[in-house]
Amino acid sequence: MAKMIEQIGVLTSGGDAPGMNAAVRAVVRTALARGLEVKGIRRGYHGLLKEDMFSMTSRDVSEILQEGGTILQTARSGRMTTETGIKLAAEICDKRMIQGLVVIGGDGSYKGARELSKQGVNVVCIPGTIDLDIASTEYTIGFDTAVNTAMDAIDKIRDTSTSHERCSIIEVMGRTRGYIALWSGIACGAEKIIIPEDDSFDEDDIIEAIRTGRNFGKKHFIIINAEGIGDSIGMAERIEAATGMETRATILGYLQRGGSPTCRDRVYASVMGHKAVDILLQGKTNRVICYKHGEFVDMDIEEAHKMEKGISDYMVKMAEELAV
Ligand code: F6P
Repeated sequence: MAKMIEQIGVLTSGGDAPGMNAAVRAVVRTALARGLEVKGIRRGYHGLLKEDMFSMTSRDVSEILQEGGTILQTARSGRMTTETGIKLAAEICDKRMIQGLVVIGGDGSYKGARELSKQGVNVVCIPGTIDLDIASTEYTIGFDTAVNTAMDAIDKIRDTSTSHERCSIIEVMGRTRGYIALWSGIACGAEKIIIPEDDSFDEDDIIEAIRTGRNFGKKHFIIINAEGIGDSIGMAERIEAATGMETRATILGYLQRGGSPTCRDRVYASVMGHKAVDILLQGKTNRVICYKHGEFVDMDIEEAHKMEKGISDYMVKMAEELAV
């Protein structure tokens, strides 16, 4: 029989992502509406290990839906990758009577949650990362806002790039994956998108394409480079030396993680937060929330862990064809 749940904990962990606040708000308000107590845990697993938590009320999550960042703060905890850290975190959950722990975060946070589940803590994970690099879901909180932020920035760089007839290399985030690069590159009509998943990348081909483009009167050349490839400044120097076309590199960096979440991020994060609490109350244990084929579903954390994320070959090829 499922254990009666009276109190849950919620934390945000890893890199922050716009929409995390919407998820926290949904978790807190849904739990309170169902008669549960909610402990907000500050600074992710780091705060859990320090027992830095407080009882949350509905007021604590007022006026946060539209705010970027996370009101619970976040951190990357090295101790949660160690056996002693995980055991201590599980003991604290037991001692503080956290009968369900909602973890909002990315890949690393999922790994921590999985280890906690093996120690008997009942976890529910909500995918929160701008990188879209979690295999079990087609949507992660913050990706939509981040790609829209990147798109706006690239559009602006294109203006000046065209005026000066330059090549611009714009490096976007995404850790080891190329989703932000692929999406923002397609949205901005980039001439070239470089992502770690596509091993056909060759700098000489780009140099050749720039020469050909210039012969056809092209006024700019926009390259979107994923941070998993990196070296944008070196690449700019080499391209300028080989083509004679002035080339500038811009690393968009942390601005992609901030800002008010888009409508999609607010709504999907709200649904996921709401669902996480319902799942716990249904007596389900150790689940991850996923968005698949247009629906919000949940899956066993072990099953999710075994999955591998692929990138759409179709989208990669399409982006190449449209850039010609
Ligand atoms: O996971 C989100 C992300 O912004 C990645 O795109 C990036 O590689 C990483 O976090 C940067 O992490 P940190 O904030 O620790 O520098």
